[in-house]
Amino acid sequence: MHGVPTKYQSHQILMKYKKHIFICTNLKPDGKKSCGEVHGMQLVDAFKQLVKDHNLSVDVRAQKAGCLDVCGFGPALVVYPEGVFYGKVQLEDVQEIFDKHIVHNEPVERLRLKF
Ligand code: FES
Repeated sequence: MHGVPTKYQSHQILMKYKKHIFICTNLKPDGKKSCGEVHGMQLVDAFKQLVKDHNLSVDVRAQKAGCLDVCGFGPALVVYPEGVFYGKVQLEDVQEIFDKHIVHNEPVERLRLKF
């Protein structure tokens, strides 16, 4: 098959991690609202700690990311391979996202951004 792989195919190939969490920590100039300015880095630290606590470092990676282009809904993050975006994520939401989506594969609908 040629061209861009289908969604299904892209899940089948070359995934180093079972779940890859990208958390926006972008800081915009001039004090404009941005995920990094709110608590983006704290979200990264919280997810990293849960990955470590659950001994899932081989299968799950949480890392900081630049702007995800959903700034108005920040703090934002995205979980792959599903490509599920979350917005307005608070520190107290991290455990729920981790338990439901990362461990049990069930996205947290109340925080999910729908495009
Ligand atoms: S600053 Fe976080 S999505 Fe743009």
